[in-house]
Amino acid sequence: MRTTLWAVGAVSAVTAAAGCDVGPRAEFEPPHVHVVETRPADGDGTDCADSDPDCGVSRRPRIVVRYDRPLWPEPERFREVLVRTGRAGVRITSARYDVLDRTLSYELGPRLRPRTLYRVELADPAEGFTPRAYDGGEVAPGAVPLEFSFLTQGEDAAAEEEVLEAPVPSCSRIAALLDRHCGNCHGADRPAMGLTLNSPEGLRATAIQRVARQTETGNDSGVPSLHPPRFGTAMPVIEPGKAAGSYLVYKLLSGSAPFEPCRSAECAELADQPGAEACEAWTELERERLRDWFVRGSPMPPEYSEQPRLDCASLRALLRFIDDGARCP
Ligand code: HEC
Repeated sequence: MRTTLWAVGAVSAVTAAAGCDVGPRAEFEPPHVHVVETRPADGDGTDCADSDPDCGVSRRPRIVVRYDRPLWPEPERFREVLVRTGRAGVRITSARYDVLDRTLSYELGPRLRPRTLYRVELADPAEGFTPRAYDGGEVAPGAVPLEFSFLTQGEDAAAEEEVLEAPVPSCSRIAALLDRHCGNCHGADRPAMGLTLNSPEGLRATAIQRVARQTETGNDSGVPSLHPPRFGTAMPVIEPGKAAGSYLVYKLLSGSAPFEPCRSAECAELADQPGAEACEAWTELERERLRDWFVRGSPMPPEYSEQPRLDCASLRALLRFIDDGARCP
């Protein structure tokens, strides 16, 4: 199974290389990517007493792998995780990339067996088909192991509470949010760069699946490229279903001010969005690299603007809206 998956990766890697004439300069050596955290962590549950069935990792775990650099959103490279017990593998049903947190979250198919030791292997970086950074930086082993084990809860563990997530915000709510932060310059009237963000019609006509002007490099202007040879060329302003492939998101994340927790009445309605409490900004070094690689102009909103920078709840709501398909009827 592992070989098959990696073969898929190999094909796309070859295509990417073949279509490459604006690729990175030959002398450029992109910095490595490291895993900085896994959930579960190595050894979780292994010191649980048998008499306590609740102790241990949930039998419906979500495997979360957090990287230190933003990834190139290539879903075919996001399946490179193997979960098994003994020789039996566990099916991975979905892999989700969170661009702000730089995490890959994997959902597993069936419920895991009780009080069983599972082993998780992330693909060997030496094989070359692991996720990579947006500039091509490859994964390298670091302090957090690329293979780890955990023990599941006992048979009689108490049922887990269902967590009901707040609904994904609607297009009109997102347009109202963008009006507060961007509307002075990206309204209907002579919008900066032709980009109207403060109404569903504007989003549909100028942002969703429209190539960002600042990412146009070649002859193919106006045509979004889903598999560009170099990340950041011909990128849509908003790519439905993929915040990590949306130029607008990088214009927000490349700014230096922190994303503060929501403290105003305007964002209170979004405070129940998952993760709304904490949005860790990317490091200055990474933001600099992003600007070197593909993010042109100022971070948005620009520093000279009177409009406030996004708060954490609004940022999470926007990312979730895009990841959910950016539906603007
Ligand atoms: C004070 C005016 C102003 C505000 C407020 C502002 N922008 Fe901009 N925006 C500009 C200007 C000017 C440019 C072009 C120059 C630049 O990128 O620095 C631009 C460029 C952009 C681009 C690139 C478009 C392309 O086709 O390449 C995006 C995306 C963008 N803005 C998104 C936003 C978002 C999202 C907000 C709100 C969070 C925002 N802007 C707030 C003035 C503004």
